Amino acid sequence: MRGSDRGSAPRPGFNLAERAESLYPVTMDSAVQSGSADEELFASIAATPIASVITDPRRPDNPIVAVNRAFCELTGYREEEIVGRNCRFLAGPDTEPEARALLRDAVRDGRPTLARMLNYRKDGSAFRNAVMIAPVFGPAGGIAYFIGSQMETGEGEVDLEARRREAAGRVAALTPRQRQVLAHMIAGYRNKQTAGFLGIDEKTVKMHRAALLTKLGIASSAEAIRIGVEAGLEISGAG
Ligand SMILES: Cc1cc2nc3c(=O)[nH]c(=O)nc-3n(C[C@H](O)[C@H](O)[C@H](O)COP(=O)(O)O)c2cc1C
Repeated sequence: MRGSDRGSAPRPGFNLAERAESLYPVTMDSAVQSGSADEELFASIAATPIASVITDPRRPDNPIVAVNRAFCELTGYREEEIVGRNCRFLAGPDTEPEARALLRDAVRDGRPTLARMLNYRKDGSAFRNAVMIAPVFGPAGGIAYFIGSQMETGEGEVDLEARRREAAGRVAALTPRQRQVLAHMIAGYRNKQTAGFLGIDEKTVKMHRAALLTKLGIASSAEAIRIGVEAGLEISGAG
């Protein structure tokens, strides 16, 4: 039976079948195995209403390997015009070099970060983009992917600060254990690795992860990571 009903089995943390209408058929890397942590990662960007991408830093120039519908709607590009390119294709003449440098350094160092920058849609119109990026480790260690999300923001600092406060409030409502698990997700660790760091079993990590998504009122890890990064959550301060 296994293999013949691929994709239809419910998995903890998200329910693809129920949300099918809002999903973009995210292109899977051919190396991604059904039921694997990678498949869960790809499904998590399909399940979020926030524009999101996954990039593969093991390939030359860290190309986008998956994109969701919200990203296409925000930028005006179709999926086939996006996959295979580095995310800098959204930058243009008035994109702030400091913001680019911030992202470049975070990619080099494998850390999560948030940068606000001017980006351009396919039709040439500019928008203020609050970009969040975070690493995702592979099972053997080493960064296998980056996850990124893009959000259009206003001109002033005001709404970013409001988002930061709101995110901090939502993170503060989590239990200390849930905050620790979220901090490890932001740092890129998979459930198994997090279990090792926290000295608990993987099943318990999964349970905390599902509970924190419920508490945050969201359906995907990708969105939880964005909220945690906006709130400035870090492993050292997670307790
Ligand atoms: C997951 C991810 C998402 C990114 N999203 C954007 C984006 O939305 N807009 C943008 O201008 N750059 C984005 N970047 C940054 C660029 O890919 C690149 O790292 C940045 O332009 C700095 O490198 P460069 O100076 O070689 O262009 C993203 C990077 C990653 C890893």
